Amino acid sequence: MLNLRREALLTLKPYEATIGDFPVKLDANESPFDFPREMKERALKILKETPFNRYPGKIVKEVQELLARFSGVSEDMLVLGNGCDEIIQMILLGFGVSRKAVIPVPTFSMYKIAALVTGAQPVEIPLTPGFRLNTREILARAKDKAGVIFICNPNNPTGNLFPYEDIETILEGTRFLVAVDEAYWDFGPTTALKLMEKYERLVVLRTLSKSFGLAGLRIGYAIARPEVAREIQKVRQPYNMDSLSLSVAKVALENPSYREAFIRFISNERERVYRGLSAMKGVIPFESRTNFILFRTEYPARLVWERLKDRGVIVRDFSSLPLLEGCLRVTIGAEEENNAFLIALREVLTELERGRCS
Ligand SMILES: Cc1ncc(COP(=O)(O)O)c(C=O)c1O
Repeated sequence: MLNLRREALLTLKPYEATIGDFPVKLDANESPFDFPREMKERALKILKETPFNRYPGKIVKEVQELLARFSGVSEDMLVLGNGCDEIIQMILLGFGVSRKAVIPVPTFSMYKIAALVTGAQPVEIPLTPGFRLNTREILARAKDKAGVIFICNPNNPTGNLFPYEDIETILEGTRFLVAVDEAYWDFGPTTALKLMEKYERLVVLRTLSKSFGLAGLRIGYAIARPEVAREIQKVRQPYNMDSLSLSVAKVALENPSYREAFIRFISNERERVYRGLSAMKGVIPFESRTNFILFRTEYPARLVWERLKDRGVIVRDFSSLPLLEGCLRVTIGAEEENNAFLIALREVLTELERGRCS
């Protein structure tokens, strides 16, 4: 069996989510707010009337219409995916196989994984030390006739927004498809959509996992010019969205304003957590336009991560990635979770400082 393995997958590890009961779970950029109960009831009502023996039917079209209205685009510009993760894979299947997938790093890990899985060749280009896109280097590596460039904007895990001029410079300077992942756009709020009129090679990726609070339902989508969307549709599995997710998406998109208070809350809490981190000796937080904050500590990040975990607080350790030495990422949670995190981190740092002095 071992000699049947694909070379590109040899070093890849199957994705493993952190599973466990952590009192304060701030590692996956999820929303701390569940879908409102009465909206859940409405979705369940739709589901009760849905024949489970049939493949999803007209509800796909209904969700597509609602999504088009929400995004201010036409329906033929949309492709629905089983989470944004599936969209990433579809883009590579449609435009990346046997070609380069240029990925500015550090960034969301799924671009590289999906590139390897689909037989694209990942080309990682480090951001500048100030977490800016190295547009010159990106363009130098994207000189072929075709390929894909992924730009996560705002970027995960650094949290910053790349200027749109840089994205336009990239679109001008290459023939590659440029996929701008806007999983966190509405915490900004900001979008590359306006560039789509001018550039047909732009695809914008979105998800209902973050501000809509629906990570468990797996609903993502791509927005592209109709001719590009059609190419992505070609590689989509026939029934990639199930009736349950579609019922929930329908209810969420019929009243998308339910999330506005969540977004406001997260933005305010993000500023409070940022101030809390800035006030700690030996901690440097980075400005964020998302629902998380990256921060650097002067102690070994793994140790800080473990001691936070011992206190029931789970964050993400990114310290092994280029440019991110000493860095951890904390998702903005509910008020009491953020308080618990700040208190735990203060304790851990005091403990480590004492250990250093004794
Ligand atoms: C930048 C980015 N894109 C996509 C995703 C995945 O989105 P989905 O849950 O829709 O698959 C994430 C999840 O953390 C993300 O950070």
